[in-house]
Amino acid sequence: MADNRTFTMIKPDAVKAGHIGAILAKINEGGFRIVAMKLTQLSNEKAGEFYAVHKERPFYGELVEFMSSGPIVAAILEKDNAVEDFRKLIGATDPSKAEPGTIRALYAKNIGENAVHGSDSDENAAIEGAFHFAGVEVFA
Ligand code: RTP
Ligand code: MG
Repeated sequence: MADNRTFTMIKPDAVKAGHIGAILAKINEGGFRIVAMKLTQLSNEKAGEFYAVHKERPFYGELVEFMSSGPIVAAILEKDNAVEDFRKLIGATDPSKAEPGTIRALYAKNIGENAVHGSDSDENAAIEGAFHFAGVEVFA
């Protein structure tokens, strides 16, 4: 995946709370173009694989349980400087520390159930995009 792309998920808490539309509006207003998108649900195993980097962390079990607890929206987004700009748009992991107006400040419940995922590097954006989408599902 090109360096001007990032990968996001609207997490189960935000989908359940009916925030898909509002979050997609923030993404559009932030200047991101959606090049792939689907409503889907991660199995326990797939959620574990996606967040394998956190395997040794104390919150790993809870995170895997939460991320497989209901449907998510997975999407690939395009913009110059996509990874860094999207992390700015979503705000800090802990919503109580997130800048006002960011997606997590507006829609996240707490540090665990925090509304959205954003890739943390170009390399991971490519890996995560390919984890969720086949080449024919990505529209340049
Ligand atoms: P993400 O990967 O989902 O975009 O979140 P992030 O980079 O801001 O945070 P990261 O450190 O990668 O953590 C991944 C997700 O694990 C959950 N978490 N829970 N209970 C806790 O202390 C805790 N810390 C992290 C969150 O869902 C976080 O987004
Ligand atoms: Mg992360």
